[in-house]
Amino acid sequence: MNKINVGIIGVGRMGRIHLDNLVLKFPEVNVVAISDVLESSKSLAEQYNVPNFYTDYRDLISNPDVEAVVICSPTDRHAENILAAVTAGKQVFCEKPMDLSLETVQELEDIIEASGVKFMLGFNRRFDPNFKKIKSLINEGKVGEPHIVKITSRDPAPPPVSYIKSSGGMFVDMTIHDFDMARFMAGSEVKQVFAVGKNLVDPEIGKAGDIDTAVITLTFENGCIATIDNSRQAVYGYDQRVEVFGSAGMAGTTNNTPDNHYYYDKNGQSGPLPLNFFMDRYIDSYYNEMREFIDCLNKNEKPNVGAKDGMVSLAIGIAANISMKENRVVALEEITEKNVSVSS
Ligand SMILES: NC(=O)c1ccc[n+]([C@@H]2O[C@H](COP(=O)([O-])OP(=O)(O)OC[C@H]3O[C@@H](n4cnc5c(N)ncnc54)[C@H](O)[C@@H]3O)[C@@H](O)[C@H]2O)c1
Repeated sequence: MNKINVGIIGVGRMGRIHLDNLVLKFPEVNVVAISDVLESSKSLAEQYNVPNFYTDYRDLISNPDVEAVVICSPTDRHAENILAAVTAGKQVFCEKPMDLSLETVQELEDIIEASGVKFMLGFNRRFDPNFKKIKSLINEGKVGEPHIVKITSRDPAPPPVSYIKSSGGMFVDMTIHDFDMARFMAGSEVKQVFAVGKNLVDPEIGKAGDIDTAVITLTFENGCIATIDNSRQAVYGYDQRVEVFGSAGMAGTTNNTPDNHYYYDKNGQSGPLPLNFFMDRYIDSYYNEMREFIDCLNKNEKPNVGAKDGMVSLAIGIAANISMKENRVVALEEITEKNVSVSS
């Protein structure tokens, strides 16, 4: 078998998940290099028998053995990592978001398109078995025309304020997954965005200039309406639910739990809480998205979620920020025409 040689940039939370999957579950892949600015991450290379470790990602890119690069560095490093990898002719998988500037993402999209390399963006939730089932019911016509998409997406606890400060804000860091999911389920493009956001969980998040609670309404070109509700802190765990209501029916999923027992006594009933966070809840989706990427490389096919999806979801996030700040409905074309960046 002709193995694909992969290098991973950044082996924090996400990088470790992909490293573990690629080494243990992809016999057709060799992880040949890891790069992380933390020298201590070298121990991961040793643990997984990865022959090369670099503290400078450029050394990984210039290693001629590396055919494909998996980018899991912090968001503010993605653009330079993508540019270097694509320029060197490597195939690229990158964690979301590509960058916080729409202009940069559009430039990257053009460069990727012109280069002919395969590029996949880590919108892993499309590959979650629950949400894939809803999507296939829609594709089979069982839901009819989608009229309402309802997404609940609440984290169990906020990230550290240091993370919040460099994240670009909740809409482009967290809700960006939900914007992509809404587009995926609606099967259409967003026309208008209206967002309300509050700082209700942790005053430190407010002091850092961000929100932790929001409701967003999206309207789509095909008439579908979506609502997304977000919180950075659901005390009962990671609350991830999607429902699609259409002309012929409704499809939805409940939360994943460690088991599905129920218990009754004279006071009422109880059951298990949702799985705690993304490392548990979306573990299948991380394998499935990497399976899509590696299969695309093997079959010489374009991955079905790429730079354009990153660009559109970022634009929706920017529109949501403006809508919240100016308390008005924002047409998406206002954003895509102006190329505004996330700080607007
Ligand atoms: N798809 C998802 O569900 C999901 C979940 C969490 C995070 N993410 C995204 O993944 C990316 C990484 O997030 P994380 O939570 O793993 O962060 P993290 O902080 O846990 O890991 C980042 C790693 O990159 C390393 N690093 C920093 N600068 C580097 C550089 N210049 N070159 C190489 N390595 C560098 C850090 O030392 C660290 O080990 C972010 O863009 C984030 O938005 C996606």
